[in-house]
Amino acid sequence: MKIISTPLELKRYLKTINKTIGFVPTMGALHEGHISLIKEARKQNELVVVSIFVNPTQFSKDEDLDKYPKKDGADKKICEISGVDILFFPNAKDIYGSDEVSLMAPKVRGFVLEGLTRPSHFNGVLTVVMKLLNIVNPTKVYFGKKDAQQLNLISLMVKQLFMSVEIVAVDTVRESDGLALSSRNIYLSKDERKEALKISSALYLARNLITRNILEVEVIKEQMLNSLQPLEIFYVEILNHDFEIIKKVEVGRSLVLVEVRVGETRLLDNIWL
Ligand code: PAF
Repeated sequence: MKIISTPLELKRYLKTINKTIGFVPTMGALHEGHISLIKEARKQNELVVVSIFVNPTQFSKDEDLDKYPKKDGADKKICEISGVDILFFPNAKDIYGSDEVSLMAPKVRGFVLEGLTRPSHFNGVLTVVMKLLNIVNPTKVYFGKKDAQQLNLISLMVKQLFMSVEIVAVDTVRESDGLALSSRNIYLSKDERKEALKISSALYLARNLITRNILEVEVIKEQMLNSLQPLEIFYVEILNHDFEIIKKVEVGRSLVLVEVRVGETRLLDNIWL
């Protein structure tokens, strides 16, 4: 595995290679969720590039940028074992200058759900993903379905800015008890981890109701909200796959999303129905 830290060096190197490139952008602290993205990329491409970059512009001042888990040694090993060809490991100065051009998330879809309480978050995500895609110029790029709003906004960016990369959405990986894998799970104490199981339980509750043909969004949301008590709830929402509001669930075209705070940690999850 080759480790490259500057955009110029990576661009130069990739120019000499005529292969399909699968790209997995990450912020490190890699877990099974990331590994499943890498595995998909490995299956579908001749060359696999992973980036590890904790992007400062997607954190607001009061968020956990300084605390964000760093596991550089373990991450490198995981990449090596998973068959990554190139690990791109830039620092902030390699990616950002002083008077920056940046992207703006769409005014509606970028400022609801997670964007409502983190208004600059998706501007930062879109900007860094655009930069990384321009550096790597991959054939396919891999994102987890767990960050459904991020996936939706990046898909919109690729479409609206006429970019030619193909986006591959990969299923969420869960612990055996249902907790969705997240780099932030390591912040949870034993008790908080137990509390966090309310999230997947609420999603499974929604799925059960829908299986029993209870399809009214307000009815499902109310039961989910009750089941999540006493957690601090940022949102419980049921939308179609284009992130539009619906009144009734349409199986095969709907998405149930939850974001809560457990202790000090924001956790989000969803199921696609
Ligand atoms: O999902 C993430 O890890 C990040 O938001 C991403 C896409 C790597 C951009 O920093």
